[in-house]
Amino acid sequence: MHSIEDIDKSKLPKHIAIIMDGNGRWAKQRGKLRVFGHENGVEAVRQTVENCAKLNIDFLTLYAFSTENWKRPKIEVDTLMRLLVASLRKELKTLDENNICLNAIGKIDSLPQKAHKELKEVIEKTAKNTGMTLTLALSYGSREELKTAIRAMAIEVKNNIISPDDIDETVINDHLYTRSMPDVDLLIRTSGEHRISNFLLWQIAYAELFFIDVFWPDFGEHHLAEAIISYQNRERRFGKTSEQLN
Ligand code: IPE
Ligand code: IPE
Ligand code: MG
Repeated sequence: MHSIEDIDKSKLPKHIAIIMDGNGRWAKQRGKLRVFGHENGVEAVRQTVENCAKLNIDFLTLYAFSTENWKRPKIEVDTLMRLLVASLRKELKTLDENNICLNAIGKIDSLPQKAHKELKEVIEKTAKNTGMTLTLALSYGSREELKTAIRAMAIEVKNNIISPDDIDETVINDHLYTRSMPDVDLLIRTSGEHRISNFLLWQIAYAELFFIDVFWPDFGEHHLAEAIISYQNRERRFGKTSEQLN
C-alpha cells in the first residue's frame, strides 16, 4: 500500500480532477438508502482535500453535482444540497487552516438560494488564501459550459468586440468556467465506471486517466497516492515521440 510519503514531490500534477462516484452503491451494499452514501462521502472529500493541500497540489477540482444529476429523485437532490450547505459551514475553518482558496464552476446560480449564498460567502472568505485552489463543480456539465462560452463569443463577434479570426484556443479558454485554471493533468474516477460523464471535456484533452474500483466513501490516502504514483510513472508525450522528449 502506498502512502503520500512515497510520492516524488518534484513531479507532482499541477491540476488533479476527481469524479467522485459510487456513493449510492456503497450505501446499497450496506443495505442503506443512497443518501447514507452521500453522507459518508463527505469524509472522503475532507481527507482528499487535506492530503492534496499537504502535498502542495495547486488545483484540485471535484465533480460534486452534474447538470444531469438534477434528474434524480427530489429527496436525493435535496439531501445533496443540504450536505453541501452543512459542509461549507463546517469546513470553512479547515479551508483556512490549510490556506485553501475555494472556487466553483458550473451553473451555480441554478443552485437553491441557500446553497448559492453559502457557497459565495465561503468563496469570498477564502479568496485571500494563497495555497491550493479547490474547485467544486456544481450543476456542472461540460456541454453546458461550452454552449455558454460559444454564445458569449458569438455575442462579442456580433457587437464587433472580437472578429471570428480572433477565436483561438486561448480565447476559448478565457470563456470557460475554468478560465483561470491550467488544464487537468490527472483525472481520477472512482467506482469502477470507465466514463467521463460530461466532465471537463475540453480541459482533459491531454490528462492522464486513472480509474479505480473503490466506491467514493472508501477512497483514502493510499488510493490518492496510488493514483499520483501511477501518473508519475507515465510518459506524457503530447503528440511527440519518446525520443524527442529526452
Ligand atoms: C456520486 O455517487 C455522487 C453524485 C453523483 C452526486 P452516485 O450517487 O452517483 O453513486 P452511484 O454511482 O449511484 O453508486
Ligand atoms: C458523475 O457521476 C457526476 C458526479 C460524480 C457528480 P454520475 O453517477 O452522475 O454519472 P453516470 O450517470 O454514472 O454517468
Ligand atoms: Mg454514479
